[in-house]
Amino acid sequence: MVTNEIKLNVKRYLPETGEMKESQYVVKANKYTTVLDALINVKEAQDSTLSIRYSCRMGICGSCGMVINGRPMLACQTHLLSLSKEEISVGPMEGHPILKDLVVDMTEFFDKHRSVMPWLYVDNEEKFNPESQYIQQRSELDYYLPFSYCIKCGLCVDACPVSNTNPRFLGPQALSQAYRYNSDSRDHGERTRLEKVDAFDGVWGCEYAGACSEVCPKGVDPALAIQLLKLDVMKFSFTGKVNDRKSVKV
Ligand code: SF4
Ligand code: FES
Repeated sequence: MVTNEIKLNVKRYLPETGEMKESQYVVKANKYTTVLDALINVKEAQDSTLSIRYSCRMGICGSCGMVINGRPMLACQTHLLSLSKEEISVGPMEGHPILKDLVVDMTEFFDKHRSVMPWLYVDNEEKFNPESQYIQQRSELDYYLPFSYCIKCGLCVDACPVSNTNPRFLGPQALSQAYRYNSDSRDHGERTRLEKVDAFDGVWGCEYAGACSEVCPKGVDPALAIQLLKLDVMKFSFTGKVNDRKSVKV
């Protein structure tokens, strides 16, 4: 199998001294080698002080987001040779506070996610005493399914020009998840979510740059979700009604 030598230029942050620096490592790569494989190899064989975060290695857990050649990407889904360069730059996501090297602090990101109630909200007795099941039709599933693939990697927030200039903006991930749960026929939390996102730091902060959807590794299309959420917010403000995507309980 063809093996190439690639230079990895890794941007690093040392919290003890506040120093930013760049370290260069040379790694061997074949067509299967991902950026994450290369970084793990560096950590194991060349420099144990390098900090990286990962878990699943297969694009599911959302842990390994970083900026690769200037673009927010998942390291475990990016093959080194697909980047067609002998030198590759790798750095931490820049839209989140950096903890060390390639590891960023996701606390604020998850706080915003939690603030839109990303769960099925049931506001009646049935929550404690379920008596029957909610049947969902295929057509009802289609309303939210594409937006349910979010793995909370934070790449969309990293790419969003509004998130990068207004730290209070809820951001494409949280807003798209507000739409995802509002569009689920089993949920009854729409009013609370619509009131939450009807704000300058909510849906109205979105300038539809579309960068979030460009970089999303799961094809979630947060930009579309936010525009659809704007429609729901307007309908709610003018008519007091929420969407009618409700299923029938049987
Ligand atoms: S919407 Fe896409 S880019 Fe944003 S956190 Fe979810 S999976 Fe990642
Ligand atoms: S390690 Fe889980 S998404 Fe990359």
